[in-house]
Amino acid sequence: MAAHPGARVRQEPSAEGSVLLSLRGITKRFGAVEALKGVDLDVRAGEVVALLGDNGAGKSTLIKVIAGAHPPSGGSMSFADQTLRSFDPRHARELGIETIYQDLALAENLDVGANIFLGREIRRRRLGLPMLDRVRMREEAARVLEQLDIHIPDLARPVGELSGGQRQAVAVARAVYWRARLVIMDEPTAAVGVGEHEAILQLITRLAEQGVAVILITHTMSDVWRVADRIAVLTRGAKALEGAPAELGEDAVVRSMLFGRHKA
Ligand SMILES: Nc1ncnc2c1ncn2[C@@H]1O[C@H](COP(=O)(O)OP(=O)(O)OP(=O)(O)O)[C@@H](O)[C@H]1O
Ligand SMILES: [Mg+2]
Repeated sequence: MAAHPGARVRQEPSAEGSVLLSLRGITKRFGAVEALKGVDLDVRAGEVVALLGDNGAGKSTLIKVIAGAHPPSGGSMSFADQTLRSFDPRHARELGIETIYQDLALAENLDVGANIFLGREIRRRRLGLPMLDRVRMREEAARVLEQLDIHIPDLARPVGELSGGQRQAVAVARAVYWRARLVIMDEPTAAVGVGEHEAILQLITRLAEQGVAVILITHTMSDVWRVADRIAVLTRGAKALEGAPAELGEDAVVRSMLFGRHKA
């Protein structure tokens, strides 16, 4: 299969990046439903892994397990060489695992700076009273946006007035500011325009170049070929296929999403 135009050419991170996240035999049951059936997955620093699969394959369940939102029913998980024994979202965040869900969890009525510092605000004292330091937060926000080459003209506008792509960028900037080592994105390009779609793909590449690991869930095959170093396909809760996009080829990936491992 021919490579997609603009396919990413950069150093193979798996050769040198150390394994950051390691899953072994992860299972998850919801009553009678076996949503995950023994999934193994390694993700390295600076690597973009596309997690693919048909509707109901278990993608969201898997990232919720990684993010501490669902305790697994079985298996083991380690992050930065530490075996995880407690599963809760706050702990995962403290370790540097940031998940950007589709609803983003931004505060619509607050500006970009306030959103980046949501729940972790910078304060200063004025006349002996603690106050939010909005100027500092806006300055810090501008710094991290610049580092990521994100352009948002007016940082004082409420986030609710920004476009879908800009909001996505604010969520990524927040993750980077708080030193995320693994950023998980669930369908980040699903509801954005063409220009913004492109900006999000570039942002993903930039994150990886800065050594951040990215797990990307998407149904857009061309995005996978643009940004992913590796693909893992889930079919009915089991990993059906894994490898570099160029080695697997798009036909095999799509077949495995539809039919699973045996007919791929
Ligand atoms: N909280 C829950 N309770 C019961 N069953 C659930 C729950 N969450 C997920 N499931 C089931 O687990 C299976 C996997 O669902 P999951 O949401 O992980 O799929 P997905 O790959 O993210 O699909 P999509 O592409 O549609 O988002 C499905 O059969 C789903 O019905
Ligand atoms: Mg899902």
